[in-house]
Amino acid sequence: MDSQEIRQRFLKFFEERGHKIVPSSSLVPTDPSVLLTTAGMQQFKPYFVGQKDPMADFGSKNTVSVQKSFRTSDIDEVGDETHLTYFEMLGNFSFGGYFKKEAIAYGYEFITKEMGLTIDYVSVFEGDAEVPADTESEEIWKSLGITKIEKFGRKDNFWGPTGAEGPCGPTTEIYVRGVEVWNIVFNEYYMKPDKSLEPLKQKGVDTGMGLDRLAVMVQDKKNVFETDLFEFIFKKIEENTPEKDQRSKRIIADHIRASVFMISDGIVPSNTDRGYILRRLIRRITHPDKSQIPIAETVIESYGNFYQELKTKKILILEEIKKEEDKFRETLYSGLKQFEKGVDPFILHTTYGFPFDLTKDLSRKAGKSIDEKDFEEKFKKHQEISRAGAEKKFGGHGIVEGDLTASSPEELKIKTRLHTATHLLNAALHKVLGDEVSQRGSDITVERTRFDFVFGRKLTDEEIKKVEDLVNEAILANYPVKIETMPLEEAKKSGALYFYKGNFPEMVKVYSIGPSLDSGSPSGRPFSREICGGPHVSSTGEIGRFKITKEESSSAGIRRIRATVE
Ligand code: ALA
Repeated sequence: MDSQEIRQRFLKFFEERGHKIVPSSSLVPTDPSVLLTTAGMQQFKPYFVGQKDPMADFGSKNTVSVQKSFRTSDIDEVGDETHLTYFEMLGNFSFGGYFKKEAIAYGYEFITKEMGLTIDYVSVFEGDAEVPADTESEEIWKSLGITKIEKFGRKDNFWGPTGAEGPCGPTTEIYVRGVEVWNIVFNEYYMKPDKSLEPLKQKGVDTGMGLDRLAVMVQDKKNVFETDLFEFIFKKIEENTPEKDQRSKRIIADHIRASVFMISDGIVPSNTDRGYILRRLIRRITHPDKSQIPIAETVIESYGNFYQELKTKKILILEEIKKEEDKFRETLYSGLKQFEKGVDPFILHTTYGFPFDLTKDLSRKAGKSIDEKDFEEKFKKHQEISRAGAEKKFGGHGIVEGDLTASSPEELKIKTRLHTATHLLNAALHKVLGDEVSQRGSDITVERTRFDFVFGRKLTDEEIKKVEDLVNEAILANYPVKIETMPLEEAKKSGALYFYKGNFPEMVKVYSIGPSLDSGSPSGRPFSREICGGPHVSSTGEIGRFKITKEESSSAGIRRIRATVE
């Protein structure tokens, strides 16, 4: 049974049992507190909490989907037999339609009858001080003839909310050949941001089963890379980079597949948020002199029938991967020069972005020995400093906060000042040059901010001075920086500036700086208002003195400004 048949059978099985088939949502979630879509239930959150009516939208209280999902939590495990970053999740959902008895019976029937597999054992929630043991599920399993029932606690058998808050509850899991294949969640609670639980008015069912893992069992393979989901991709990798070891090949297979799907959902490599995750994936598998484009093409061919968007966006997908590979190769070459000069591997890694694995490879080839322990110690220390300072959204090194990434809390502080200064600069450019100005990109390093915008000619010295003065006046006024969360459309209508290429969720943050009507601004508009992921200083006085250091052409019709804060 190939994977396409598994998908179809899953959808059909639940459709025949009164579920409405709902297409996968994008990998870019609508919930601003989550970076990427990690589970099938995410698009259904409003139905679980009673904000939206499933009957009105789906004509049923039950739905079924095959959801594109991405989990950063497993990124370091990729390369073994089961872990992946990107995967497809088969799931059935109910919003007040049915509960434990039906959900478990469906799971049992699909696994044993439709897929012809044997359930090894199942697990249920053992109970704790807050949430009682799930004896009901235990009884249901027993009535189906399953006798091996494990009991686990919060860590294993309780689904926590995606994002800062949301529906959650105890789970029961189905194991085949010793591997967890299906997670069935009984949403009974709402977890608030302070982690306290409130009973939900309406109970719900949320399930998730990884297609790749299921295919391993159904197709009787040893690991996910041997299933038809990876077969052609893996073959192509063996042709393209035959010298690689098994683990590296698996990493290439996973990362390239994930990259293709991310780009098809509108993510592009960048230094922030999901763009940064994508950048890491591509960079990790960039070969010094062999492009991974043929592998990406194979992914598009293998998946293009079920995911049409891969075919329609093929050129864009391949272009983005190629651009990032080329960019990273430049880094590799300049790193290589530093390596030849004998620069410390840790400095090579942090300052030049030169991967330690590559330093090891090159040293081995050059017959040089390197001190791995020294690198690891420095790296660990560096990570601890990073962790101490800011929220860490995903594995690997570096602090990621909103739109910024930094390697230390100190660096984050400087970049935050530059970030707010960039908003003031954008606003000042609009005031001095008019609304022809439109942002085309920005980049912040510890040294400076760089801002690209549409404008037909070189700025005069007077204009540059005027922009600089306006920003410094706003800094001296020590305006508070205000944040509001609102629907994207409302934010746009409110006159907030935004980067046209940004991938915005349905709910966005709007940062306003300076007086508005209620505080006496004659126009009623604040000095600056922008849709943005933050972070920003709390009042502009923290920025310090702002200085434009350069104004130049970036490309046809696009100007580029570099500026610093002191
Ligand atoms: N939401 C549950 C999971 O992703 C089903 O495991």
